[in-house]
Amino acid sequence: MLRSPRLRDGRAWSEIRLRNEIWLNKWEPSSPHSWAERNAVTAWPPLVSALRKAGRAGTMVPFVITYGGRLVGQVNVSNVVHGVLRSCTVGYWVDRAVAGRGIVPTALALTIDHCFAGVGLHRVEVDIRPENSASLRVVEKLGLRREGYYERFLDIDGGWRDHIAFAVTVEELRGATMLSRLPSLPQLA
Ligand SMILES: CC(C)(COP(=O)(O)OP(=O)(O)OC[C@H]1O[C@@H](n2cnc3c(N)ncnc32)[C@H](O)[C@@H]1OP(=O)(O)O)[C@@H](O)C(=O)NCCC(=O)NCCS
Repeated sequence: MLRSPRLRDGRAWSEIRLRNEIWLNKWEPSSPHSWAERNAVTAWPPLVSALRKAGRAGTMVPFVITYGGRLVGQVNVSNVVHGVLRSCTVGYWVDRAVAGRGIVPTALALTIDHCFAGVGLHRVEVDIRPENSASLRVVEKLGLRREGYYERFLDIDGGWRDHIAFAVTVEELRGATMLSRLPSLPQLA
């Protein structure tokens, strides 16, 4: 399931993030602060406030992913632009303990369907480092179209990293949902 982040998610969020430093840090924005500082329980309330503020401003749609009722990751819709572009960028992560079960492909499909049917966007973009084979599989499973190669595009893990851009526009779904592109949904372990 996807739902909005809540203040009381802090303990679960922090526990997962601290335990997954090696799994996550290499794909995350560069920061002058340590992983422990950025992912302490105390880091969650200001983060939720910032996410909600951006949500109210219409520039973001923040979600947490739950699996069996427990928080296991996040999906953030960012860079939401309305008007003539009506586009956004989606980022995601999941706890390594539940990786490989199709959770993020499902979460991304639900997110894309919400962006089109709920937010009224026309295009969704996902940018992935060429080295991130697991994330490349996620967009491959959903059949997102490769649009381009951005050199030194995002400041990730201490440097400007190349990214491959994938996108989908609403016409490509031909009236179907992105969720229907998945052969199966994740089962509870
Ligand atoms: C990329 C990521 C979100 C994929 O989520 P997921 O729910 O595991 O997605 P899937 O179950 O479809 O698995 C995707 C691929 O990951 C790989 N994988 C599966 N289990 C794995 C594990 N335990 N450890 C490492 N890689 C694994 C497989 O190549 C799999 O492809 P396959 O299904 O064809 O075998 C997840 O690996 C992750 O959070 N990585 C760290 C953060 C990150 O890279 N975020 C995206 C930045 S663009």
